[in-house]
Amino acid sequence: MIDSHVHLNATQFDTIVDETIKKSMAAGVNAFICIGYDAVTNMKAIAISETYDNVYCTIGFHPEVAKMVTEADLLSLEEMLKHPKVVGIGECGLDYYWDKSAIEEQKFVFKSQIELANKLNLPLIIHMRDSAFDTLEMIKNYKAKSTSGIMHCYSGSAQMVTDFVNENLYISVAGPVTFKNAVTPKEVAKVIPIERLLIETDAPYLAPMPYRGKQNTPEYLPYTLAEIARIREMDKDLLDQITEANTIRLFQLNRNK
Ligand code: NI
Repeated sequence: MIDSHVHLNATQFDTIVDETIKKSMAAGVNAFICIGYDAVTNMKAIAISETYDNVYCTIGFHPEVAKMVTEADLLSLEEMLKHPKVVGIGECGLDYYWDKSAIEEQKFVFKSQIELANKLNLPLIIHMRDSAFDTLEMIKNYKAKSTSGIMHCYSGSAQMVTDFVNENLYISVAGPVTFKNAVTPKEVAKVIPIERLLIETDAPYLAPMPYRGKQNTPEYLPYTLAEIARIREMDKDLLDQITEANTIRLFQLNRNK
């Protein structure tokens, strides 16, 4: 298994990165994509990826910090993207649940990162919350078709899965798929084309059942994999192989940058 989206750079992991990676590997997670979301966590993501062979990272600006992002920040992001362990841009996107007053700033910062992804041919890690139509519209308007990416912890409808897949994007499923009353996430997990399906924890957030409400860790990724296998009525090991191959292909983990 590869955890395609984990915040080992979040303060919750500050003193336990080493132990978390070891325990997760014992649970079958053999690589990690550590996701940055602001200036500080971008630098931490790079530092962690430099320490561990099996940790890669992505860097970018989350919509929650869009108001604070300057031109200089975007220029330094472009420079940092050249680092050999940086395999993508984000997380970035639109979050209307968090702050409806900053929609213009969010759109500007998202658009800038889409343009960087086009320019450098790196995948985008897209965060979308209560913003499905605007997010899809921005992707259609600004993303080059050849630029790939991930709808991370996808919370949209099953119907819209096709719209994002048609834009050359992968769909990532996280812990909420294991929640009992999660009707839409379970429906979504069923309809994603298998060659576009990824799994993630988004740890330290969104722990799967039976740890719902506790601090999440990549060690819990097998619970999400098992639930998706159950929903799709397929063999767990086969699903593991396919989602891992998808992650390697998307992030080009085999290349020498
Ligand atoms: Ni995240």
